Formats: sequence, C-alpha cells, structure tokens
Amino acid sequence: MGLDWWWILVVAGIVLVLLFPLLAGLPRVAIPRHPEVEGFDDAATGAGYAEIQERVEFKSMRQTVIDHVIDALKKSSMTDAIDVLDLGCGTGHLIKELHVEIGKAGIEAVMHGIDIGSASVRECREHLARAGLPGIDIKEGDGARVPMADGSMDVVISSLSMHHWSRPEAVLAEIHRVLKPGGKMVIFDLRRDARRFYHHAFDRWFTPRMPEPLKSAGDPYRSLLASYTPAEVEAMLERTPWARERVTVAPRTVAVFVDGIKGTP
Ligand SMILES: C[S@@+](CC[C@H](N)C(=O)[O-])C[C@H]1O[C@@H](n2cnc3c(N)ncnc32)[C@H](O)[C@@H]1O
Repeated sequence: MGLDWWWILVVAGIVLVLLFPLLAGLPRVAIPRHPEVEGFDDAATGAGYAEIQERVEFKSMRQTVIDHVIDALKKSSMTDAIDVLDLGCGTGHLIKELHVEIGKAGIEAVMHGIDIGSASVRECREHLARAGLPGIDIKEGDGARVPMADGSMDVVISSLSMHHWSRPEAVLAEIHRVLKPGGKMVIFDLRRDARRFYHHAFDRWFTPRMPEPLKSAGDPYRSLLASYTPAEVEAMLERTPWARERVTVAPRTVAVFVDGIKGTP
C-alpha cells in the first residue's frame, strides 16, 4: 500500500515537471478589454457570490490576499489601532478573515467596507452580523466618490473589484485621498493577459460550474476579460496622484498585486 502511494507521488511529480514548461511556454492572450457591469442589485447574484466564497479556489485566492496584506503590515511600523477599508467589499468574507488575521499579528484594526451594489452591502452586513461582527461600518457608495474624510484610513485594500470600476483613475485617486500619509494601498485583481491555458480553464472549467445567475452572466471568465494587463494598470496609475508615489505592480500567474504607499507631505 505504502509503495503504491510512493509511485503515485513519483508519477504525479514527473507529470508536473513535464507540464510546467508547457504551461509556462503557452502564449499570453492579447485581446481587447470587455468592460464589466459595476455593481449588482439583486439578491440572487448576492447569494451566488456568497456561495462561491466557500469554494476551495476562492478561499485560496482570498488567503493569498490576506497573506499579502499581513506581510505588508508586518513590514510597516503600524502597530497601534489602524483603520482598514475594503473597497468593493462584496460579501464581507475578506473583511471578516482579515480582521482575525490582523488581530493574530498583534495589531488592533477597525474595519470598514464600501460597495456600490446595494445587494452586496446587504449581503455583507448580514454575513458580518452572523459572524459576530455587527459593528463593522459598511457603506453603500461608489469608490470614485468614497464617503470618507481625507486622510482617515491607514490601509485601503481592494480585491477582485478593479475590473468593475467604470472610472478606475477616479477610484485610485480616491484611495490616495482617504489614506493617511504613510498609508498603504493593496489592490488585487485578475490579469487579462494570462496565458491561454488559464483562459481555457476559466471559460471551460470554472464558468460552467458557477451557481446561477453568475454562470448565465459568464462569470468568472467575464471578469478575466474585463481585467487589465499589468502594463495597463501602470499606465492608469500614471494618470493619478499615485504617479508621484512609491508603487509596485507585481504580476502573478493570473493576477496582479498593486502596492502603494502614500508619501508624507
Ligand atoms: C467580484 S466582487 C469582489 C468582492 C470581494 N472584494 C471579493 O474579493 O470577493 C466585485 C465587487 O466590487 C463592487 N464594485 C464594483 N464597482 C465598484 C465601485 N465603483 N465602487 C465600489 N464597489 C464597486 C461590486 O459591487 C462587487 O461587490
């Protein structure tokens, strides 16, 4: 029995080693962007989003974002109570889990959320209340006009939302405005120029397995097609106050991280 497992592992290892150059060598997709709708208002879509949050691929993507944010916080000198805004917070899963992980890192955090979709806001408030976090401030609003004071946030995160923004430069400028000097921006989103293999995987594997009505809307492949390339993100940042700041655009396999620190005046 032990020997069988050993052979399975050896064969799986060889297959992975052989597959790697194939996947890495596949061409990147170069297609025009197909813009997405900005927010949703219906309960069925909200329930669909809530359902997929429990799936392994979405949990692991969320964990990647959480690890990235915790890493950035540990590298900073932020230890006192910090204000963290999740822009485009959707169902609130990221807010809830990030709140726990920031606490584990020994930092006290006050979490905030904003979302343009009224169904998202409802779903988020209910999710946080069920999780025993009813006091978190979740606002309905457009990231292009954040209903918050200048310099009021220590950290602004945004996950899988940028490809929805109809005025991305305005949202990026708003993130800059609401951050305190020294405050951090962390944006995570898909990248449209992923290799062809991933376009196939999103189109043929993930989308047909989504709950209704996300499947009928073509999600998540639609999101990949609406996302930006790292080069487009860099060009966009140049047209915002972030052009004067320390910003890195770090491409991953099918995603991109944008990290910025607002300078001290
Ligand atoms: C795909 S969901 C991602 C939700 C969540 N951040 C996550 O990682 O699962 C995108 C969210 O961004 C919100 N959104 C889109 N455009 C927005 C905008 N301009 N301002 C605020 N929220 C926006 C949508 O309503 C939606 O809830």
